[in-house]
Amino acid sequence: MPFAEIGRDIQKAVNHLRNGEIIGLPTETVYGLAANALDVAAVLRIFETKQRPHFDPLICHVSSLDRIPQWVSEFPDVLMELARMFTPGPLTLLLPKRSLIPDLVTSGLDRAAFRVPAHPVAQAVLEQLDFPVAAPSANPFGYVSPTTAQHVAAQLGNTIPFILDGGPCAVGLESTIVGLEDGKVTVYRLGGVSIEAIESVVGQLQLQINQSSNPKAPGQLKSHYAPRKRLILNQLSDLSKSISTQRKQAFIGFDSYTDLLPREHQFLLSENGSMQQAAQRLFDLLRTLDQSDFDEILAIPVPEQDLGRAINDRLRRAAS
Ligand code: TXA
Ligand code: MG
Repeated sequence: MPFAEIGRDIQKAVNHLRNGEIIGLPTETVYGLAANALDVAAVLRIFETKQRPHFDPLICHVSSLDRIPQWVSEFPDVLMELARMFTPGPLTLLLPKRSLIPDLVTSGLDRAAFRVPAHPVAQAVLEQLDFPVAAPSANPFGYVSPTTAQHVAAQLGNTIPFILDGGPCAVGLESTIVGLEDGKVTVYRLGGVSIEAIESVVGQLQLQINQSSNPKAPGQLKSHYAPRKRLILNQLSDLSKSISTQRKQAFIGFDSYTDLLPREHQFLLSENGSMQQAAQRLFDLLRTLDQSDFDEILAIPVPEQDLGRAINDRLRRAAS
């Protein structure tokens, strides 16, 4: 029996955080495993609970942009411009930290990651706190991120006292991480704000999305966001090569079915071709299939544009 209480009491969440507890916190991207970022003991317990290596830094959450400058030594204009455009929302900014932010939070890096979530429930909690809230996604390290309170309870319910229920996450993919690299706007993780949207504000940007182990942004480890079952990602034209009569296979498609598998084995991310809906459904579908009696999962990439790029990034990592 999970020990965590799942509830909607915002005050209870605030009290737990003030008392140095860690809780499940809803955001519009995914659920976070939240604690006071200034409380090193609480932050240590986040790492323990997630079984996350200490070299993988945490994102700090605050209720509004004007609460960030007190924790950072600099807020470059171009990042401020992006922040004004996409905040509150699924954007995380890497900014040079002040020493007030514990090194444990940033894994010893000079920059801290800051984000202002748009979810009204997260807002209501953060508004009442005078410290930033460190929150990685509320899943065991390497697994698919949770997009409902029930997802959090299923895996971490035995280790935390409270999960604040804010309903299913509207975005469904983690935040996009941006920062400056030699003065150039750089995206380190594809996420809920598309490259196209960022480029419409700052012009061309550079991508530094790592496919392998990288101490700078270990969340980009190639095998991440992965279900326990084997997931095979292929172009539609190559899909037939992966069809097996020995194994019960599920198929994840974007908006259309394939003739290669029985219809009842097929799951569409969005029947009407909405990228937003596809993003919102992806992680829940991966979890559902992981718990089903299918032996393996076949998937094809969605169109490589807008949120589709982040969806494909997660599918690739789920497949490795
Ligand atoms: O949407 C999100 O960002 C969610 C919600 C809960 O806010 N959080 C989330 O956190 O996805 P997490 O811990 O699962 O992923 C955070 C990633 C790290 O793995 C790392 O790649 C990057 O953010 N990151 C955090 N702090 C960083 C830093 N100081 N420098 C470089 N990368 C950093
Ligand atoms: Mg994560």
